[in-house]
Amino acid sequence: MSGINYSEKIPNNVNLAEDRTLQRALEHWQPNYLSWWQDMGPDGSQNFDVYLRTAVSVDPQGWAQFGHVKMPDYRWGIFLNPAEQDRKIHFGDHMGEAAWQDVPGEHRANLRRIIVTQGDTEPASVEQQRHLGLTAPSQYDLRNLFQVNVEEGRHLWAMVYLLHKYFGRDGREEAEALLERRSGQDDNPRILEAFNEKTPDWLSFFMFTYFTDRDGKFQLCALAESAFDPLARTTKFMLTEEAHHMFVGESGVSRVIQRTVDMMNQLKTDDVAKLRAAGVIDLPTIQRYLNFHFSVTIDLFGADQSSNAATFYSSGLKGRFEEGKRTDDHMLKGQSYKVLEVVDGQVKEKEVPMLNALNEVLRDDYITDSKGGVERWNRVIEKAGIPFRLTVPHKAFHRNIGSLAGSKVSPDGRVISEAEWNAKVDEWLPTGEDRAYVASLMGRVVEPGKFANWIAPPVMGINRQPVDFEYIRFN
Ligand SMILES: [Fe+2]
Ligand SMILES: [Fe+2]
Repeated sequence: MSGINYSEKIPNNVNLAEDRTLQRALEHWQPNYLSWWQDMGPDGSQNFDVYLRTAVSVDPQGWAQFGHVKMPDYRWGIFLNPAEQDRKIHFGDHMGEAAWQDVPGEHRANLRRIIVTQGDTEPASVEQQRHLGLTAPSQYDLRNLFQVNVEEGRHLWAMVYLLHKYFGRDGREEAEALLERRSGQDDNPRILEAFNEKTPDWLSFFMFTYFTDRDGKFQLCALAESAFDPLARTTKFMLTEEAHHMFVGESGVSRVIQRTVDMMNQLKTDDVAKLRAAGVIDLPTIQRYLNFHFSVTIDLFGADQSSNAATFYSSGLKGRFEEGKRTDDHMLKGQSYKVLEVVDGQVKEKEVPMLNALNEVLRDDYITDSKGGVERWNRVIEKAGIPFRLTVPHKAFHRNIGSLAGSKVSPDGRVISEAEWNAKVDEWLPTGEDRAYVASLMGRVVEPGKFANWIAPPVMGINRQPVDFEYIRFN
C-alpha cells in the first residue's frame, strides 16, 4: 500500500495521511482484510456492481453517498463523530473528570476485551450471511443484504482502528485474530454464541437484522457513553449505520407477514398445509422463528449478575443505554434491581445490587425496544382482519446464559418439566420441518422489480429510487 493516497482509498477523519504508525499497521492488515472478504464475504458477488451507500465524511452530505460499486472496491473508511469540547466522564467513580483521550494503563486489558468482543461480531455476521445472496427474493433485498455486509465490514475497521491506534502490538495481534476466527468453526469459533449460529434463509436474516443487530445498537449505545473518548466517538458514528440494518429486518419481516395475510384472505384459510401449498410462510412458523431469534439474542447481554459489568460501569468503560438522559446519581452504589431466578418451580424476581445487574438493565431496555417492532408487525395482521397476534416470549424462555440457563420455561413464563418441554418444543421453536419448508421457498429472483412469491414488495425503493431500479448489475 505504500505510495497510496490514503484519504482517497480509505476515507477517514482520523488524519490517516499524517499518521505513519497507523499507516504501517494498516499496510499489513488491509491486504489480509481483503483476502478475508474474498474468502468469507458474500458468495459469488465479487464482480457485481452494487448500488451502495458509502460514508466519505461524518457530515450529513458525506455519510451516505450512493453509487454502483464492486464490493471488493468498497471504500471502507474510519470515522469518529466530531469531538465534544471538554467532554467529561458522566458516570462511575471518575464522574466529573475529563474524558480519556488515551487508554489508562489500569483499564487497558478490559477496554481491549470490550473492543475485541464488539469487533468480533462484525465479520462474524458477514460470514453467517455469506450464502444468502444466492437465494435473494429480489434485487432490492440483495442490495440491502450487501449494504449490511459492507457496513459490518466497516464496523470491523472501526474497532481495528482503535486496536491499532491505542493498543500497540497486542492491538495488532488482536486485529489479525479478528480475521482468523470463523463463525461456526469448531476449532476457532467467533467469541459470542449467537454469532456461531447459521443464518440459513432469508426469514432468519430478517429476524437476525431485527433482533441481533438491535443487540448491536444497545451495545454500541452503552459504549457511546464510555469515558474512553475515541471509543465513544467511533461507536456513535457506527450507530448511524446500524439504524438501516434494523430497518432491513423490521421491514423484511413485515413484508413476509403482509404476503402471508394477503394469501390467508385470498384463500380464506388459516390452514398451515394450504398456506404452505400456496408458497407462503404461515404465521405460527414466523412466531417460532421470532421465539428463536429473540431468546438467542437476549443471551448476548450476558449473565444477569456480573461483577465484570459492575467493574466496566464503575470504572467508566461502558455506560447504560441513554446514560446521559437518566436522572439518578450515575454511581448506583447501594441501589438494587430485579433479576429473575427459578425457585420452587416458579420464576421469581430477586433484588440484587444494581451495579452487578447492569447486563440485566441493558437486556430489559433492549426487550422494551424490541417489542415496538413486533407491535408494528401485529398491526399488519390486524389490518388484514386476522385474529392472530405475534408475541415476544418470556425473558426466561430458552435461555442458555445466566441463572435461568438450567431451567425449562415455556414462552408464557411457566417452569415446566423436561418431559413437557420435549412434548411442546416443536410448537415453540422452529422444527427441522419448518426450516426445510422455508429453505424450499428460497429461490433466486433477480429481475428488477420482481419479488419471490413469499414476500410482498417494499413500499418504496432505496434512496428515493424506484422499487424496480437496477440495484445490482450482475455483469
Ligand atoms: Fe455492526
Ligand atoms: Fe449491524
